Amino acid sequence: MKRIGILTAGGDTPPLNATIHGAVIRANQLKLEIYGFIKGFNCLFNPRVPHVHLNPLFQAIPELDPTKGGTLIGSSRDYVDPNKKDELDLIASRLKYLGIEGLICIGGDGTLNGLQPLAERLPTVLAPKTIDNDLGLNFPSEPDEWVRALDSSKAGYTYKRTPSSTVFDLNQIVNYATPGYATAVMVSAQGIERIRTTAESHRRIAIIEVMGRHSGYIALGTAYGQPDIILIPESPVDIDRVVDRVKYLYDLQKNVVIVCGEGIVDEQGVELAESRSTDPGGNVVFTGAADALRDRLIHIIGDGYFQRYRRGTSAKEAIFTRKVGHTQRGGRPIQFDRFYASLLGAKAVDLLIEGRNNAVSVLQYQSRKGFHVEGYDANRFRDRWGLIHARYLHLSLYDSILMKPSKLGIDYLLPIFTDAIGNDDMEYMRQTLFDPGNLVQPYHSINTDVHKRIRYIDAVD
Ligand code: F6P
Repeated sequence: MKRIGILTAGGDTPPLNATIHGAVIRANQLKLEIYGFIKGFNCLFNPRVPHVHLNPLFQAIPELDPTKGGTLIGSSRDYVDPNKKDELDLIASRLKYLGIEGLICIGGDGTLNGLQPLAERLPTVLAPKTIDNDLGLNFPSEPDEWVRALDSSKAGYTYKRTPSSTVFDLNQIVNYATPGYATAVMVSAQGIERIRTTAESHRRIAIIEVMGRHSGYIALGTAYGQPDIILIPESPVDIDRVVDRVKYLYDLQKNVVIVCGEGIVDEQGVELAESRSTDPGGNVVFTGAADALRDRLIHIIGDGYFQRYRRGTSAKEAIFTRKVGHTQRGGRPIQFDRFYASLLGAKAVDLLIEGRNNAVSVLQYQSRKGFHVEGYDANRFRDRWGLIHARYLHLSLYDSILMKPSKLGIDYLLPIFTDAIGNDDMEYMRQTLFDPGNLVQPYHSINTDVHKRIRYIDAVD
Protein backbone atom coordinates (compact mmCIF):
# COMPACT_ATOMS: atom_id res chain seq x y z
CA MET A 1 0.00 0.00 0.00
CA LYS A 2 1.16 3.50 -0.83
CA ARG A 3 -1.82 5.70 -0.07
CA ILE A 4 -4.76 5.37 2.30
CA GLY A 5 -7.72 7.56 3.24
CA ILE A 6 -9.25 8.47 6.57
CA LEU A 7 -12.60 10.02 7.49
CA THR A 8 -14.57 10.89 10.62
CA ALA A 9 -18.27 9.97 10.66
CA GLY A 10 -21.19 10.59 13.02
CA GLY A 11 -21.31 12.98 15.98
CA ASP A 12 -17.96 14.47 16.90
CA THR A 13 -16.01 13.48 20.02
CA PRO A 14 -13.10 15.25 21.73
CA PRO A 15 -10.24 12.91 20.68
CA LEU A 16 -10.98 12.55 16.94
CA ASN A 17 -7.87 14.54 16.02
CA ALA A 18 -5.87 12.31 18.37
CA THR A 19 -7.04 9.22 16.46
CA ILE A 20 -6.17 10.86 13.13
CA HIS A 21 -2.80 11.89 14.58
CA GLY A 22 -2.06 8.33 15.70
CA ALA A 23 -2.90 7.06 12.21
CA VAL A 24 -0.76 9.73 10.54
CA ILE A 25 2.27 9.06 12.75
CA ARG A 26 2.02 5.34 11.97
CA ALA A 27 1.58 6.10 8.27
CA ASN A 28 4.71 8.27 8.38
CA GLN A 29 6.69 5.41 9.91
CA LEU A 30 5.48 3.09 7.15
CA LYS A 31 5.99 5.70 4.40
CA LEU A 32 2.32 5.63 3.54
CA GLU A 33 0.52 8.67 2.23
CA ILE A 34 -2.69 9.46 4.08
CA TYR A 35 -5.52 11.62 2.75
CA GLY A 36 -8.23 13.01 5.01
CA PHE A 37 -11.72 13.11 3.47
CA ILE A 38 -13.78 16.17 4.28
CA LYS A 39 -17.06 15.78 6.22
CA GLY A 40 -17.17 12.02 6.59
CA PHE A 41 -19.00 9.88 4.05
CA ASN A 42 -20.52 13.03 2.61
CA CYS A 43 -17.23 13.60 0.78
CA LEU A 44 -17.52 10.30 -1.05
CA PHE A 45 -20.88 11.30 -2.54
CA ASN A 46 -19.22 14.37 -4.04
CA PRO A 47 -17.76 13.56 -7.50
CA ARG A 48 -14.81 15.87 -6.72
CA VAL A 49 -13.99 14.12 -3.41
CA PRO A 50 -12.69 17.07 -1.36
CA HIS A 51 -9.65 15.86 0.57
CA VAL A 52 -6.52 17.00 2.39
CA HIS A 53 -3.09 15.40 2.19
CA LEU A 54 -2.39 14.95 5.91
CA ASN A 55 1.27 13.95 5.65
CA PRO A 56 3.13 15.56 2.74
CA LEU A 57 6.76 14.31 2.78
CA PHE A 58 5.63 11.95 5.56
CA GLN A 59 5.22 14.71 8.10
CA ALA A 60 1.93 15.57 9.77
CA ILE A 61 0.52 18.91 8.68
CA PRO A 62 0.76 21.45 11.54
CA GLU A 63 -3.02 21.87 11.74
CA LEU A 64 -3.31 18.30 13.04
CA ASP A 65 -3.22 18.85 16.80
CA PRO A 66 -4.07 15.75 18.88
CA THR A 67 -4.91 17.89 21.90
CA LYS A 68 -7.60 19.85 20.08
CA GLY A 69 -11.21 18.65 20.23
CA GLY A 70 -13.37 18.01 17.19
CA THR A 71 -12.03 16.90 13.83
CA LEU A 72 -9.97 18.98 11.45
CA ILE A 73 -11.47 17.10 8.49
CA GLY A 74 -15.08 17.60 9.59
CA SER A 75 -17.78 15.03 10.21
CA SER A 76 -21.36 14.37 9.14
CA ARG A 77 -24.11 11.89 9.84
CA ASP A 78 -24.27 10.76 6.19
CA TYR A 79 -23.85 7.03 5.65
CA VAL A 80 -23.55 4.86 2.56
CA ASP A 81 -26.67 2.93 1.63
CA PRO A 82 -25.83 -0.76 1.02
CA ASN A 83 -28.75 -0.99 -1.41
CA LYS A 84 -27.46 1.75 -3.70
CA LYS A 85 -24.99 -0.40 -5.63
CA ASP A 86 -24.41 2.19 -8.39
CA GLU A 87 -23.53 4.84 -5.84
CA LEU A 88 -21.15 2.46 -4.09
CA ASP A 89 -19.48 1.60 -7.40
CA LEU A 90 -19.05 5.30 -8.12
CA ILE A 91 -17.45 5.83 -4.71
CA ALA A 92 -15.08 2.92 -5.35
CA SER A 93 -14.06 4.32 -8.73
CA ARG A 94 -13.49 7.79 -7.27
CA LEU A 95 -11.26 6.37 -4.57
CA LYS A 96 -9.40 4.27 -7.12
CA TYR A 97 -8.83 7.34 -9.29
CA LEU A 98 -7.36 9.05 -6.25
CA GLY A 99 -5.03 6.09 -5.68
CA ILE A 100 -6.61 5.18 -2.33
CA GLU A 101 -5.80 1.56 -1.48
CA GLY A 102 -7.39 1.38 1.95
CA LEU A 103 -9.79 3.41 4.05
CA ILE A 104 -10.00 4.10 7.80
CA CYS A 105 -13.40 5.22 9.05
CA ILE A 106 -13.42 6.71 12.54
CA GLY A 107 -16.91 6.18 13.90
CA GLY A 108 -19.37 4.34 16.11
CA ASP A 109 -21.87 1.56 15.58
CA GLY A 110 -23.67 3.47 12.79
CA THR A 111 -20.40 3.83 10.89
CA LEU A 112 -19.55 0.18 11.43
CA ASN A 113 -22.93 -0.81 10.00
CA GLY A 114 -22.31 1.44 7.00
CA LEU A 115 -18.79 0.22 6.44
CA GLN A 116 -19.66 -3.28 5.25
CA PRO A 117 -20.60 -2.47 1.61
CA LEU A 118 -17.46 -0.37 1.23
CA ALA A 119 -15.33 -3.20 2.61
CA GLU A 120 -16.59 -5.31 -0.30
CA ARG A 121 -15.02 -2.84 -2.71
CA LEU A 122 -11.78 -1.73 -1.03
CA PRO A 123 -9.94 -2.60 2.22
CA THR A 124 -11.79 -0.70 4.93
CA VAL A 125 -11.35 -0.70 8.72
CA LEU A 126 -12.84 1.17 11.66
CA ALA A 127 -11.16 3.08 14.47
CA PRO A 128 -13.76 3.53 17.23
CA LYS A 129 -15.11 6.72 18.72
CA THR A 130 -18.26 7.68 20.60
CA ILE A 131 -18.93 9.45 23.84
CA ASP A 132 -21.83 7.03 24.37
CA ASN A 133 -19.35 4.15 24.84
CA ASP A 134 -21.82 1.87 23.09
CA LEU A 135 -19.54 0.47 20.40
CA GLY A 136 -18.41 -2.90 21.68
CA LEU A 137 -19.67 -6.10 23.24
CA ASN A 138 -20.20 -7.03 26.88
CA PHE A 139 -18.82 -10.45 25.93
CA PRO A 140 -17.86 -12.01 22.60
CA SER A 141 -21.04 -14.10 22.15
CA GLU A 142 -23.40 -11.17 22.81
CA PRO A 143 -24.49 -10.74 19.14
CA ASP A 144 -25.91 -14.30 19.21
CA GLU A 145 -28.36 -13.27 21.94
CA TRP A 146 -30.34 -10.95 19.67
CA VAL A 147 -33.64 -12.18 18.25
CA ARG A 148 -35.98 -10.42 15.88
CA ALA A 149 -39.72 -10.38 15.35
CA LEU A 150 -41.89 -8.98 12.58
CA ASP A 151 -43.26 -5.56 13.53
CA SER A 152 -46.43 -4.83 11.58
CA SER A 153 -46.48 -1.19 12.76
CA LYS A 154 -43.30 -0.32 10.88
CA ALA A 155 -43.26 -2.98 8.17
CA GLY A 156 -39.94 -4.34 9.36
CA TYR A 157 -38.41 -6.14 12.30
CA THR A 158 -37.88 -5.23 15.92
CA TYR A 159 -34.80 -6.62 17.60
CA LYS A 160 -34.48 -7.54 21.24
CA ARG A 161 -32.11 -9.39 23.52
CA THR A 162 -32.94 -12.79 24.93
CA PRO A 163 -32.10 -13.28 28.62
CA SER A 164 -28.38 -13.97 28.85
CA SER A 165 -26.81 -17.00 30.48
CA THR A 166 -23.29 -15.66 30.02
CA VAL A 167 -21.31 -14.78 33.13
CA PHE A 168 -20.24 -11.16 32.86
CA ASP A 169 -16.53 -10.59 33.34
CA LEU A 170 -14.74 -7.28 32.85
CA ASN A 171 -11.84 -9.11 31.17
CA GLN A 172 -14.18 -10.37 28.44
CA ILE A 173 -15.49 -6.99 27.32
CA VAL A 174 -14.77 -6.28 23.68
CA ASN A 175 -13.70 -2.63 23.38
CA TYR A 176 -13.70 -1.73 27.05
CA ALA A 177 -13.94 2.03 26.54
CA THR A 178 -14.29 4.19 23.47
CA PRO A 179 -12.36 7.40 22.77
CA GLY A 180 -14.53 10.32 23.82
CA TYR A 181 -16.23 8.58 26.73
CA ALA A 182 -13.73 9.65 29.40
CA THR A 183 -13.83 13.33 28.42
CA ALA A 184 -17.64 13.31 28.25
CA VAL A 185 -17.78 11.86 31.76
CA MET A 186 -15.31 14.42 33.04
CA VAL A 187 -17.41 17.29 31.69
CA SER A 188 -20.63 15.77 33.05
CA ALA A 189 -19.17 15.02 36.49
CA GLN A 190 -17.85 18.58 36.74
CA GLY A 191 -21.26 19.93 35.78
CA ILE A 192 -22.84 17.87 38.53
CA GLU A 193 -20.40 19.15 41.14
CA ARG A 194 -21.23 22.70 40.13
CA ILE A 195 -24.97 22.23 40.12
CA ARG A 196 -24.75 20.54 43.51
CA THR A 197 -23.60 23.66 45.31
CA THR A 198 -26.36 25.76 43.84
CA ALA A 199 -28.94 23.06 44.67
CA GLU A 200 -27.53 23.00 48.20
CA SER A 201 -27.65 26.76 48.63
CA HIS A 202 -31.19 27.14 47.30
CA ARG A 203 -32.59 23.90 48.77
CA ARG A 204 -33.49 22.54 45.34
CA ILE A 205 -33.77 19.27 43.49
CA ALA A 206 -31.72 19.18 40.30
CA ILE A 207 -32.29 16.72 37.49
CA ILE A 208 -29.33 16.66 35.15
CA GLU A 209 -29.70 14.97 31.77
CA VAL A 210 -26.67 13.46 30.08
CA MET A 211 -26.27 12.04 26.57
CA GLY A 212 -25.79 8.42 25.57
CA ARG A 213 -28.96 7.49 23.64
CA HIS A 214 -30.02 4.02 24.89
CA SER A 215 -26.79 3.51 26.77
CA GLY A 216 -26.18 4.48 30.41
CA TYR A 217 -22.38 4.58 30.41
CA ILE A 218 -22.09 8.36 30.65
CA ALA A 219 -24.72 8.44 33.39
CA LEU A 220 -22.87 5.68 35.26
CA GLY A 221 -19.57 7.59 35.05
CA THR A 222 -21.15 10.73 36.49
CA ALA A 223 -20.95 8.91 39.83
CA TYR A 224 -17.60 10.70 40.10
CA GLY A 225 -19.56 13.96 40.56
CA GLN A 226 -21.42 12.29 43.49
CA PRO A 227 -25.03 12.73 42.40
CA ASP A 228 -27.55 11.19 44.80
CA ILE A 229 -29.43 9.17 42.19
CA ILE A 230 -28.35 7.90 38.79
CA LEU A 231 -30.97 6.67 36.31
CA ILE A 232 -29.82 4.72 33.27
CA PRO A 233 -31.83 3.73 30.18
CA GLU A 234 -31.16 0.01 30.71
CA SER A 235 -32.98 -0.08 34.06
CA PRO A 236 -36.65 1.09 33.91
CA VAL A 237 -37.35 3.98 36.27
CA ASP A 238 -39.24 2.82 39.34
CA ILE A 239 -40.93 6.15 40.06
CA ASP A 240 -42.13 5.21 43.55
CA ARG A 241 -38.60 4.24 44.53
CA VAL A 242 -37.24 7.49 43.09
CA VAL A 243 -39.84 9.55 44.97
CA ASP A 244 -39.11 7.74 48.26
CA ARG A 245 -35.40 8.29 47.85
CA VAL A 246 -35.82 11.94 46.86
CA LYS A 247 -37.95 12.60 49.94
CA TYR A 248 -35.55 10.75 52.21
CA LEU A 249 -32.59 12.76 50.89
CA TYR A 250 -34.45 16.04 50.89
CA ASP A 251 -35.47 15.51 54.49
CA LEU A 252 -31.84 14.81 55.32
CA GLN A 253 -29.89 17.36 53.28
CA LYS A 254 -32.44 19.75 51.77
CA ASN A 255 -31.19 19.21 48.24
CA VAL A 256 -31.05 16.32 45.81
CA VAL A 257 -29.08 15.82 42.60
CA ILE A 258 -30.41 13.28 40.11
CA VAL A 259 -28.65 12.31 36.90
CA CYS A 260 -30.64 10.73 34.09
CA GLY A 261 -29.53 9.33 30.77
CA GLU A 262 -31.47 10.88 27.89
CA GLY A 263 -32.96 7.50 26.94
CA ILE A 264 -34.45 6.45 30.32
CA VAL A 265 -37.65 4.41 30.17
CA ASP A 266 -40.62 3.89 32.48
CA GLU A 267 -41.73 0.56 33.91
CA GLN A 268 -43.49 -0.30 30.65
CA GLY A 269 -40.26 0.28 28.73
CA VAL A 270 -41.54 3.51 27.15
CA GLU A 271 -39.02 6.33 26.84
CA LEU A 272 -39.66 9.33 29.07
CA ALA A 273 -38.24 11.66 26.41
CA GLU A 274 -41.09 13.62 24.93
CA SER A 275 -39.90 13.78 21.39
CA ARG A 276 -38.03 11.12 19.57
CA SER A 277 -36.75 11.64 16.06
CA THR A 278 -34.10 9.93 13.95
CA ASP A 279 -31.03 11.40 12.33
CA PRO A 280 -29.99 10.52 8.73
CA GLY A 281 -28.12 7.45 9.98
CA GLY A 282 -31.32 6.12 11.57
CA ASN A 283 -30.07 6.92 15.08
CA VAL A 284 -32.66 7.93 17.63
CA VAL A 285 -32.44 11.51 18.92
CA PHE A 286 -34.12 12.02 22.32
CA THR A 287 -35.38 15.26 23.82
CA GLY A 288 -36.98 15.93 27.15
CA ALA A 289 -36.25 13.00 29.49
CA ALA A 290 -35.27 15.23 32.43
CA ASP A 291 -38.29 17.50 31.92
CA ALA A 292 -40.62 14.50 31.80
CA LEU A 293 -39.11 13.15 35.02
CA ARG A 294 -39.50 16.58 36.62
CA ASP A 295 -43.20 16.66 35.65
CA ARG A 296 -43.72 13.30 37.33
CA LEU A 297 -41.93 14.34 40.49
CA ILE A 298 -43.87 17.61 40.67
CA HIS A 299 -47.11 15.72 40.26
CA ILE A 300 -46.37 13.01 42.83
CA ILE A 301 -44.49 15.01 45.47
CA GLY A 302 -46.72 18.08 45.20
CA ASP A 303 -46.36 21.62 46.59
CA GLY A 304 -47.34 20.77 50.16
CA TYR A 305 -44.18 18.79 50.74
CA PHE A 306 -41.92 21.74 49.87
CA GLN A 307 -44.06 24.28 51.69
CA ARG A 308 -43.37 22.46 54.92
CA TYR A 309 -39.68 23.30 54.46
CA ARG A 310 -39.69 26.67 52.73
CA ARG A 311 -42.77 28.79 52.98
CA GLY A 312 -44.12 29.82 49.58
CA THR A 313 -42.10 27.35 47.48
CA SER A 314 -43.93 25.23 44.95
CA ALA A 315 -42.70 21.92 43.60
CA LYS A 316 -42.19 23.69 40.26
CA GLU A 317 -39.83 26.18 41.85
CA ALA A 318 -37.95 23.56 43.82
CA ILE A 319 -37.30 21.03 41.05
CA PHE A 320 -35.26 22.14 38.07
CA THR A 321 -33.58 20.47 35.11
CA ARG A 322 -30.35 21.05 33.23
CA LYS A 323 -28.89 19.31 30.22
CA VAL A 324 -25.13 18.92 30.08
CA GLY A 325 -25.67 18.96 26.31
CA HIS A 326 -23.02 19.30 23.65
CA THR A 327 -20.35 20.54 26.07
CA GLN A 328 -19.81 16.84 26.91
CA ARG A 329 -18.92 16.17 23.28
CA GLY A 330 -16.66 19.12 22.57
CA GLY A 331 -13.37 20.63 23.61
CA ARG A 332 -9.97 19.32 24.57
CA PRO A 333 -9.75 15.56 25.16
CA ILE A 334 -8.28 14.42 28.46
CA GLN A 335 -5.16 12.27 28.60
CA PHE A 336 -6.88 8.85 28.70
CA ASP A 337 -8.84 9.66 25.56
CA ARG A 338 -5.90 11.19 23.70
CA PHE A 339 -3.52 8.39 24.48
CA TYR A 340 -5.74 5.46 23.56
CA ALA A 341 -7.35 7.26 20.63
CA SER A 342 -3.86 7.65 19.12
CA LEU A 343 -3.05 3.97 19.66
CA LEU A 344 -6.36 2.94 18.10
CA GLY A 345 -5.72 5.17 15.08
CA ALA A 346 -2.25 3.65 14.64
CA LYS A 347 -3.66 0.15 15.03
CA ALA A 348 -6.21 0.86 12.28
CA VAL A 349 -3.31 1.56 9.89
CA ASP A 350 -1.66 -1.71 10.93
CA LEU A 351 -4.90 -3.59 10.28
CA LEU A 352 -4.96 -2.28 6.71
CA ILE A 353 -1.33 -3.20 6.20
CA GLU A 354 -1.90 -6.69 7.64
CA GLY A 355 -4.75 -7.16 5.14
CA ARG A 356 -7.42 -7.38 7.86
CA ASN A 357 -10.19 -5.90 5.78
CA ASN A 358 -13.45 -5.10 7.63
CA ALA A 359 -11.78 -5.12 11.04
CA VAL A 360 -11.98 -2.77 14.02
CA SER A 361 -9.20 -1.59 16.32
CA VAL A 362 -10.40 -2.15 19.87
CA LEU A 363 -9.23 -1.24 23.37
CA GLN A 364 -9.00 -4.38 25.51
CA TYR A 365 -8.55 -4.63 29.25
CA GLN A 366 -7.00 -7.35 31.40
CA SER A 367 -7.10 -6.86 35.16
CA ARG A 368 -3.51 -8.08 35.50
CA LYS A 369 -2.01 -6.26 32.51
CA GLY A 370 -4.13 -3.17 31.99
CA PHE A 371 -5.08 -1.83 28.55
CA HIS A 372 -3.83 -2.83 25.13
CA VAL A 373 -5.11 -2.44 21.56
CA GLU A 374 -6.08 -5.30 19.26
CA GLY A 375 -7.82 -5.94 15.97
CA TYR A 376 -11.31 -7.48 15.99
CA ASP A 377 -13.25 -8.65 12.95
CA ALA A 378 -16.30 -6.46 12.31
CA ASN A 379 -18.35 -9.53 11.51
CA ARG A 380 -18.07 -10.65 15.12
CA PHE A 381 -20.03 -7.53 16.15
CA ARG A 382 -22.95 -8.56 13.92
CA ASP A 383 -26.03 -10.49 14.93
CA ARG A 384 -27.09 -13.43 12.79
CA TRP A 385 -28.92 -11.07 10.39
CA GLY A 386 -25.84 -8.93 9.94
CA LEU A 387 -26.86 -6.00 12.17
CA ILE A 388 -24.58 -4.28 14.65
CA HIS A 389 -26.40 -3.19 17.82
CA ALA A 390 -25.35 -0.43 20.16
CA ARG A 391 -23.87 -1.94 23.33
CA TYR A 392 -26.11 -1.74 26.37
CA LEU A 393 -24.60 -1.18 29.76
CA HIS A 394 -24.56 -4.60 31.41
CA LEU A 395 -26.97 -4.49 34.34
CA SER A 396 -24.47 -6.03 36.70
CA LEU A 397 -22.63 -2.68 36.56
CA TYR A 398 -25.64 -0.92 38.10
CA ASP A 399 -27.39 -1.20 41.45
CA SER A 400 -31.05 -0.56 40.68
CA ILE A 401 -32.00 -0.33 44.36
CA LEU A 402 -29.43 2.29 45.32
CA MET A 403 -29.60 3.76 41.80
CA LYS A 404 -25.81 3.97 41.62
CA PRO A 405 -22.92 1.95 40.16
CA SER A 406 -22.71 -1.53 41.68
CA LYS A 407 -19.45 -2.87 43.11
CA LEU A 408 -18.69 -4.29 39.65
CA GLY A 409 -19.67 -0.97 38.10
CA ILE A 410 -17.08 0.74 40.28
CA ASP A 411 -14.52 -1.89 39.26
CA TYR A 412 -15.39 -1.12 35.64
CA LEU A 413 -14.86 2.63 36.06
CA LEU A 414 -11.63 2.57 38.05
CA PRO A 415 -9.16 1.54 35.32
CA ILE A 416 -10.50 4.20 32.96
CA PHE A 417 -10.71 7.14 35.28
CA THR A 418 -8.16 6.82 38.09
CA ASP A 419 -5.37 8.42 36.02
CA ALA A 420 -7.51 9.76 33.18
CA ILE A 421 -6.59 13.41 33.69
CA GLY A 422 -3.01 14.38 32.95
CA ASN A 423 -1.09 17.21 34.62
CA ASP A 424 -1.03 18.96 31.27
CA ASP A 425 -4.83 18.90 31.12
CA MET A 426 -4.98 21.08 34.23
CA GLU A 427 -2.02 23.21 33.22
CA TYR A 428 -3.61 23.86 29.84
CA MET A 429 -6.63 25.40 31.49
CA ARG A 430 -4.50 27.46 33.86
CA GLN A 431 -2.51 28.87 30.98
CA THR A 432 -5.14 29.43 28.34
CA LEU A 433 -8.56 30.22 29.73
CA PHE A 434 -7.82 33.68 31.05
CA ASP A 435 -5.13 34.49 28.53
CA PRO A 436 -5.56 38.26 27.95
CA GLY A 437 -5.12 37.58 24.23
CA ASN A 438 -8.51 35.86 24.21
CA LEU A 439 -10.12 39.23 24.82
CA VAL A 440 -8.63 40.87 21.77
CA GLN A 441 -8.06 38.12 19.24
CA PRO A 442 -11.04 36.65 17.39
CA TYR A 443 -11.39 32.88 17.44
CA HIS A 444 -9.31 31.34 14.68
CA SER A 445 -11.13 28.32 13.29
CA ILE A 446 -9.25 25.25 12.16
CA ASN A 447 -11.65 25.15 9.21
CA THR A 448 -10.12 28.37 7.85
CA ASP A 449 -6.67 26.78 7.66
CA VAL A 450 -7.76 23.37 6.48
CA HIS A 451 -9.87 24.94 3.75
CA LYS A 452 -6.66 26.21 2.13
CA ARG A 453 -5.36 22.65 1.91
CA ILE A 454 -8.42 21.04 0.35
CA ARG A 455 -7.80 19.43 -3.02
CA TYR A 456 -10.32 18.01 -5.48
CA ILE A 457 -10.21 15.44 -8.24
CA ASP A 458 -11.59 15.98 -11.73
CA ALA A 459 -14.97 14.28 -11.72
CA VAL A 460 -14.57 10.67 -12.86
CA ASP A 461 -18.29 10.02 -13.32
O1 F6P B 1 -24.00 9.59 19.72
C1 F6P B 1 -23.48 10.71 20.30
C2 F6P B 1 -24.55 11.67 20.72
O2 F6P B 1 -23.89 12.74 21.33
C3 F6P B 1 -25.65 11.08 21.60
O3 F6P B 1 -25.26 10.90 22.92
C4 F6P B 1 -26.74 12.11 21.41
O4 F6P B 1 -28.00 11.56 21.59
C5 F6P B 1 -26.57 12.49 19.99
O5 F6P B 1 -25.25 12.18 19.62
C6 F6P B 1 -26.86 13.94 19.71
O6 F6P B 1 -26.71 14.15 18.36
P1 F6P B 1 -26.72 15.54 17.60
O7 F6P B 1 -25.38 15.69 16.97
O8 F6P B 1 -27.73 15.37 16.54
O9 F6P B 1 -27.05 16.60 18.57
